[in-house]
Amino acid sequence: MQNLITTSDFTKEEIIDLFEDTKQLLDFKSSEVLKGKIIVIVFFENSTRTRSSFEIASKRLGAQIVSLDVGTSSRNKGETIFDTVANINAMKPDALIIRHSKWGLPETLSKYVTCPIINAGDGEHAHPTQALLDLFTIIEHFNGDIKGKKIAIIGDVKSSRVCGSNKRLLPRFGLELCFVAPKCFQYENSEHKQYDNISDIIDNVDIIMSLRTQLERHHEQFFESLNEYAKNYCITKEVFGNRDILLLHPGPVNRNIDISDDMLKDPRNKILEQVTNGVAIRMAILKKLIK
Ligand code: CP
Repeated sequence: MQNLITTSDFTKEEIIDLFEDTKQLLDFKSSEVLKGKIIVIVFFENSTRTRSSFEIASKRLGAQIVSLDVGTSSRNKGETIFDTVANINAMKPDALIIRHSKWGLPETLSKYVTCPIINAGDGEHAHPTQALLDLFTIIEHFNGDIKGKKIAIIGDVKSSRVCGSNKRLLPRFGLELCFVAPKCFQYENSEHKQYDNISDIIDNVDIIMSLRTQLERHHEQFFESLNEYAKNYCITKEVFGNRDILLLHPGPVNRNIDISDDMLKDPRNKILEQVTNGVAIRMAILKKLIK
């Protein structure tokens, strides 16, 4: 049995195979490949994209979905998360998809269950399905020619699980990473270069991935307001000029803080393509893990 806790749970060859399958699934034809399977979704944090794309992916494959409403579950009566998950597992689902604010929790919970666990985001640590869909989108955009392509991840890198997963995954496929962030959002130690200003990298990158400021993970206020932050880190037409750069964002986008309204209409941004690819990637992942 295989879990997906971080992208390193899959070898490079497995990811290449996964992307081959993803391409076939992009036509979004419904199938019955997972007919009779039951997938349980347990999200302790909010979500628009990850949760709904897992639901759509499951339904397109013929599986049934059970979404535990954490707000009305017996967690409110003092049940521990370990007991909640052990009880769900006792009902014999075929997979469990979990999102939680605690770093490492999906890995710990995997010892309490007998079905595959898919990490849909754990705190600041990892968001493997997002990184896989990001890499797939990059490969599709460059027709497979990605070795040596330079990507700058801009914004609150330190608090971002999307960055956490991408910084581990993208170099495995030959991409060169750097981070652009105010000092307060930079890693204390990084094997990749870190810059303070977008102007330091804008002429030398092929891809920019903008990130949301993760206020919910901050223990102190770093800026008087997000508008102050945006003065230096918002991706605008003025910043991009007419450069041929692929613009990505995992969502949700804070408009005119992360990316300006006009850049959200610009064809260089492939944010909704990322979302579309996210359904196909998750279909391929469910097919791979559920036996
Ligand atoms: N990218 C992402 O995880 O979005 P959601 O929080 O809406 O799922």
